[in-house]
This record gives sequence, structure tokens and C-alpha cells, in this order.
Amino acid sequence: MTEHAEPQKGASHMPAVLTALIAIVFLTAVPFLVLRAGDRRAEPAVMDADTRERTEGEKVYQRNCVGCHEPRGQGRPGQYPSLIGAPWLLGDKETAIRIVLLGVVGPMECEGRTYNNAMPNFGVNLSDLDIARVLTFTRGHWGNQADAVNEAEVAKVRASLGARTQPWGGGGELDAARKSAVLP
Ligand code: HEC
Repeated sequence: MTEHAEPQKGASHMPAVLTALIAIVFLTAVPFLVLRAGDRRAEPAVMDADTRERTEGEKVYQRNCVGCHEPRGQGRPGQYPSLIGAPWLLGDKETAIRIVLLGVVGPMECEGRTYNNAMPNFGVNLSDLDIARVLTFTRGHWGNQADAVNEAEVAKVRASLGARTQPWGGGGELDAARKSAVLP
């Protein structure tokens, strides 16, 4: 009896072994396919326009602003104002554009502290697009949530300054300039 039962028992194991093999192949493939799908989502081809502008803006920031406003936008208290929650940066975009185009040399109040240092005039070295991008980045990063700035807006503000290259004299003059707004 036992001699007959043995081969029968062995044969009945075959489907179980096959099922186990198929299960192993399947379970190995699923995480792989999920990872591949994740990779595709992260590809720059599907990056939305705002994210792309911020990424480009971060490069402009690293090249031009980081020396004073520091890598995480925190500035240096008393010397260079922080850009996190910064009142002039996050208010109307026109004022932020004016600051980057001409720079500032006089006193200005930033978060309860008066700064009276010098910010360079980037209008001479940076294109309208670069200025739009760096402002989109700084206004939308480190917890800042102000809206993006586009190239046409920078061009309009630049045109309104005419041939002026002299930096803003400080917060007083920047406030006064708001009265002749050129952006809606
Ligand atoms: C050489 C140092 C220096 C560099 C480089 C610099 N800044 Fe400034 N920034 C200043 C100073 C100083 C002030 C405050 C002005 C003052 O003291 O009169 C300022 C003020 C500002 C403000 C207003 C801050 C507020 O409270 O809202 C903004 C916005 C700003 N800078 C943006 C930028 C951007 C964007 C760049 C790069 C394109 C940049 N800065 C590069 C020194 C610098």
C-alpha cells in the first residue's frame, strides 16, 4: 500500500510548487512596477510650469543672492534682512521687482528692525526672466506663499523706471513709488 501511495503524494505536490513559484515572481514584480511608475511621475517632462520657474529661480538665487540673504533665506540679522516672511518681498510684487532692479541704499524697516546697508542693483546683470524667476522662487519658498512673478511684469516695471540707475533711497522712497503703480 505504502509503495503505491508514495508517487501519488509526490505528484500532488507539483501544482503547489508551481503556485508558489508564480506567487514569488508576481510579488517580486509588483514593487518593481510600482517603483517604475513613481520614477515616471518624478521626471521633469511632467513638471508643472510653476515648479519649473521656481527651480530656475533657485539657480538665480544661488548665483546672486545667497552671499547676503544666506542659503535658507534667513539673512544676517542687522546686516542683511531675512527673506522669510519679508514684508517688502511678499507685499505687492511691483515693490519687490523695484528692489531687485535698482537695489537699495537707505534705511528700510524689515520685521521690526531697521536695515541701513546696501543691496546691489541687479537690473544691470539680470534679465527680466531671471528677475521674475528669482522672485517667484523667494516669494514661494521657505514657507513664503506669495504669488508668482512673470517676465512681462518685470518688463513693465523696468520700463517705468526709464533710464534711472540710482538705487532706492530706502523704505520711504519705496513706499512713495507705490503711488505710481504700473501693474494692475
Ligand atoms: C550684497 C548683499 C546683498 C545681495 C547680494 C542681495 N541683497 Fe537683497 N538686500 C540686501 C540688503 C542690505 C537689504 C536691505 C536694504 C538696506 O539695508 O537698505 C536687502 C533687502 C532685500 C529685500 C527686501 C527685504 C524685505 O524685508 O522684504 C529683498 C526682497 C531682497 N533684498 C531680495 C534680494 C534678491 C532677490 C537678491 C538676489 C537677486 C538679493 N536681494 C541680493 C543685501 C543684498
